[in-house]
Parts: sequence; structure tokens; C-alpha cells
Amino acid sequence: MAQPFGLAGVMGWPVSHSRSPLMHNLWLKQHGIAGVYVPLPVQPERLGEALRGLPALGFAGCNLTIPHKVAAMAYMDEIDPLARRMGAMNLVVVGPEGRLTGFNTDGFGFWQSLVDAQPQFRAEAGPVVVLGAGGAARAVVLSLLERGAPSVRLLNRTEEKAQQLASELSGAGAHGVIDVLPWTQRESALEGCALLVNTTSLGMQDQPGLALRLDDLPRTALVCDVIYVPLETPLLKQARERGHVTVNGLGMLMNQARPAFQAWFGVMPEITPELKQAMLATL
Ligand code: ATR
Repeated sequence: MAQPFGLAGVMGWPVSHSRSPLMHNLWLKQHGIAGVYVPLPVQPERLGEALRGLPALGFAGCNLTIPHKVAAMAYMDEIDPLARRMGAMNLVVVGPEGRLTGFNTDGFGFWQSLVDAQPQFRAEAGPVVVLGAGGAARAVVLSLLERGAPSVRLLNRTEEKAQQLASELSGAGAHGVIDVLPWTQRESALEGCALLVNTTSLGMQDQPGLALRLDDLPRTALVCDVIYVPLETPLLKQARERGHVTVNGLGMLMNQARPAFQAWFGVMPEITPELKQAMLATL
């Protein structure tokens, strides 16, 4: 029998801005796998139909992006425990008999991007400050606690959302402590922390920067922003100038895609210089 043609894609609404097709198609080429990865513009009200159609269309699976990461869970036959704990998924794998399983690789992508930037970094190194309580914060907080961060200081403009996130993740069996602090304490909260992560949209292109004095941040702390447009947010610039190791959101984006490719096509792809260059050219 001829080698099957590999098919995968990303469902989103809108989805035209997604860099995922670029990454996966390059990996398909690099690994000599016949196949294609396509953008799948799917309206929220048709998500169920679209997901259920994947096996019939011969898809190995798909990624999910805004606004489908939570809603898609209702249409899975099975959900990986980690995705269940995160309360969101970004990966669908079509299994035997067309069964759909949901996974979340965003936490892996985030963690791997930290380790790529600073291989000796350990979650146990100290408390972490996470700014923001949206979808990205979920993956960030849980992946840090799972890897042994002693505590997460969670601060969000709307404090109730941080409280909500903390209680959901604590209920989901996260080990370390999540301390919700008022947004007004975001500068004093930096004292003694090993890592600062911005998951808010502040600093994104066409958005105001995050105004944050870093005076209380230990010089050894790693500073990370999940934003990748621009690559260097005002926060990262300020941190770099202060001597911190900084991590932008591009590594998280590329690393969350690797286990997805592996789940569909059986090979764990690498972030090669060619891939990095192709991605940078789109920014
Ligand atoms: P994502 O899923 O990418 O995390 P999101 O769910 O829209 O995006 O969350 C955006 C985050 O940026 C939220 O934490 C939001 O704070 P609120 O919960 O108070 O809305 C934060 N954010 C957006 N604009 C902000 C601003 N001007 N000041 C402080 N935080 C802001």
C-alpha cells in the first residue's frame, strides 16, 4: 500500500494570521513526509461539525487556536489529564476508529522555551511572578507548578479572574501554592522571585507597554514574555538592559508545535535555524 498522505491543520476564527502552517509544512518537508498542514477557518457555532468531520476527511488531527481552545473539549472522546487540569486544549489527535483525543502542549512549549534560553533553570529555583490571568496564564502557571515551582504570585488587573484561575488550578491538584496579589503590588511582588512572566497583552504591537519598575527583581531572575510581536517587548528590553536573561514568546509558539507534529507524524521535529529564520521573516 502507498504511504498515506499526512493531513493536519489549525482551526481558528480568524486563522489567517497563524504561523502554524509555515512550521508544520517546513517540518514535513525536512522529514520527507508527504503531506500538508492547512489553516481551517471554523466559525464557533460549527466547531463540533468541523471536529467530527476530521476522521472522514483523513486528518491525523488538528491544532486549535482562538476561540476554540475551551469549547473543543466538549467534542472529544477522550481528554488527556493535563489538558483536563488546564481546562483548555490546543491539540486533537484522531485515533483508531476515528476517536478524537484532546491534549494541551502549550505548557510544554512554555517550559521548553525557558530551558532553551537557560538550560540550567529549575522551577524549584524560587517563587515565580505571573502577570495576567487569561488563557496563556493557565498553561504557564500549571506547567511551573507541575515542575516544582514552590509558589506562584499571580497578579491580574481584574483580581477576581486571578482568584478564579487559582481556585480552578488548585482544585485540579496543582502542587505548589498560588498566591493571588492585588495588581497594585506588581512591583513589590518581584522581590526574591526567580522568574517573571508576562501573559497580559500589554507590550503587544499597537498596545501600551507594561509599565513596571524592576528595582525589586533579583538580578538573577529570568524574565519572560509570551508575546512574540514584537519579539522584544518594552518589558524584555528593560530587563535585558538590566542584565537579565530574557525569553520571548516565539520559543513557546515553536515548541508547542513539536509534540503535535510528533503525535500525528511520529517524529519529534527540532527548531532548526531554517525554521527560526522562516518564522522571523514573518514578524
Ligand atoms: P490570553 O488568552 O492570550 O491570555 P486574554 O484572555 O484576553 O488573553 O487575557 C489578556 C490578559 O491581559 C488579561 O489578564 C487582562 O487582564 P483583565 O483580566 O483584567 O482583562 C490583561 N490585560 C489586558 N489589557 C490590560 C491592561 N491595560 N492592563 C492590565 N492588564 C491588561
